[in-house]
Amino acid sequence: MNLAEMFAEYLPRIEAEMRDVLAAPSQAVARNYEVIQYHMGWRDEELRPLGAASGGKRIRPMLCLLACAAVGGDPETAIPAAAGLELLHNFSLLHDDIEDNSDTRRHRPTAWTIFGLPLALNAGDSMFGLAHLAFQRLPGRGVAPATALAALGIFDEMCRSLTDGQYLDMSFETRLDVTVDEYFAMIDGKTAALLAASPAIGALIGGAMPQVTGAYRRFGRALGLAFQLQDDVLGIWGDESETGKSAASDILTRKKSLPVVYALADEWVGGELRRLYEGPAFTAEDVPTVLALLDKARAREYTEARAADALAEARHALVTVTPARADMQDVLSELLSSLINRRS
Ligand code: IPE
Ligand code: IPE
Ligand code: MG
Ligand code: MG
Repeated sequence: MNLAEMFAEYLPRIEAEMRDVLAAPSQAVARNYEVIQYHMGWRDEELRPLGAASGGKRIRPMLCLLACAAVGGDPETAIPAAAGLELLHNFSLLHDDIEDNSDTRRHRPTAWTIFGLPLALNAGDSMFGLAHLAFQRLPGRGVAPATALAALGIFDEMCRSLTDGQYLDMSFETRLDVTVDEYFAMIDGKTAALLAASPAIGALIGGAMPQVTGAYRRFGRALGLAFQLQDDVLGIWGDESETGKSAASDILTRKKSLPVVYALADEWVGGELRRLYEGPAFTAEDVPTVLALLDKARAREYTEARAADALAEARHALVTVTPARADMQDVLSELLSSLINRRS
């Protein structure tokens, strides 16, 4: 099977598991679940059910199932974990859009701009709990309770890293002295932790030994770093009609994405850029000025080179393990390659 065939085979099962987990338990609270279902791409702005879901790329659950299969496990047993990982990802996006003041995600208005902050925050909280409940379904699929508990342990450590990373991301908005090392610690938390946990949990459920699980974790982490570096580039130079997210928002909210961290330390443009960032809040008119300075510092080229390094590291981690199913390992490799030059 190739990547497209794996998606065709397993995406409907992941979606079905998530829909089951996200079903409203009673009419009285139905609205809370409708907000969640809107965010998942299953309902439109009037909360009418949508035929074709307009959700995300579903990379994390696929990493989980592929790693499970590669170590010789049955991906079917890992579906609750795959669903839980994707739900946790979606919880993080729901809260991230509030934290980042973003009004567009996946080509649609963000949930908080439609339903208001209180309901969007609460829907996110529900999703956090429901993602955990998905993991409670593992023993029902034949996963040993001790393995399910260990998977939940990795999952919860990841939740801590992710939210610590989100804290760092926000705390950097008001700083001008963020170092490249601090930047990497931040994205290690906010993005790489979940992409590392996804194949690690899949491998664990598939019966892998700790050393093998560790290799899949390193693979996912490096892939996650590359993924965020690409997101930083897309967040500034991407095409909004492809990313589905507003291009100027990272600049307007003074995010210390790597291009900005790099240019702030540049000996030619750093001084001018710092003066701009020390001044009053940016408006849309300031964006081209900031972009010109980033271009002058060759910040995009630097960020893309670091992304290429991380992708190479991910590829290396993958070849350190001898998989039980080489065909599934090849699909993991294909997934990695598909992220090179991604545009959304
Ligand atoms: C967006 O992740 C958040 C980041 C970690 C950069 P994705 O790009 O995987 O989001 P979706 O789920 O495909 O929309
Ligand atoms: C990515 O955050 C990580 C999480 C959402 C936890 P970003 O703020 O960098 O990602 P986008 O660009 O909004 O998707
Ligand atoms: Mg964001
Ligand atoms: Mg963010």
